[in-house]
Amino acid sequence: MDFSKVFENNKKWVEEKLSLNPNYFEDLAKGQHPELLYIGCSDSRVTAEELMGAKPGEVFVHRNIANLVVNTDNNINAVVQFAVEQLKVKHIIVCGHYECGGVKAALNPSDMGQLNSWLQTLRDVYRYHIDELDSIKDSQKKFDRLVELNVMEQCINIIKIDHVQRAWYKTGYPIIHGLVFDVRTGKLIDLDLNIGDIFEEVRKIYDLKPID
Ligand code: CO
Repeated sequence: MDFSKVFENNKKWVEEKLSLNPNYFEDLAKGQHPELLYIGCSDSRVTAEELMGAKPGEVFVHRNIANLVVNTDNNINAVVQFAVEQLKVKHIIVCGHYECGGVKAALNPSDMGQLNSWLQTLRDVYRYHIDELDSIKDSQKKFDRLVELNVMEQCINIIKIDHVQRAWYKTGYPIIHGLVFDVRTGKLIDLDLNIGDIFEEVRKIYDLKPID
């Protein structure tokens, strides 16, 4: 997309919204009450709202390379805390996607400069699941599987977060969902991870038993 189109397109979008509802932006300015937090990849092909048919105000969004939840990342910690404590989102979606460049880089060791430390988290996912992944001979299937396993590991990283556990113990929310967007078909796939069961398995290590 050419930058010169940005303002022209914006003008059309504003007109379109106002033609349907003259108070559209006044209503939007009153506040946000999204029920979903979406954590996805920065990849330009994987839009957060469009592929779910969500409108402005419906999804709180965080995107980074390869949809990672890194415990020392102030950015994601702030996003999750705000979403859970203030917005009280009911669902957290971690959405990976096939053909993810970040995941591909983790499968092919090389010096990526500034990206090395970020990709380390992905290489860790590869290491945790090396037996399963290296048993897959088809390189495309192996790549796809690492995308899925990365989503699962990032969902586990979400349940380690104190704010999430605190809310969970108090209200039963948020529910965590691991999804993959298939760029080859446009379909969203629910990995059907039962995070409750996963948490049961890992709680002896990660359960914080929050008091309040
Ligand atoms: Co990606």
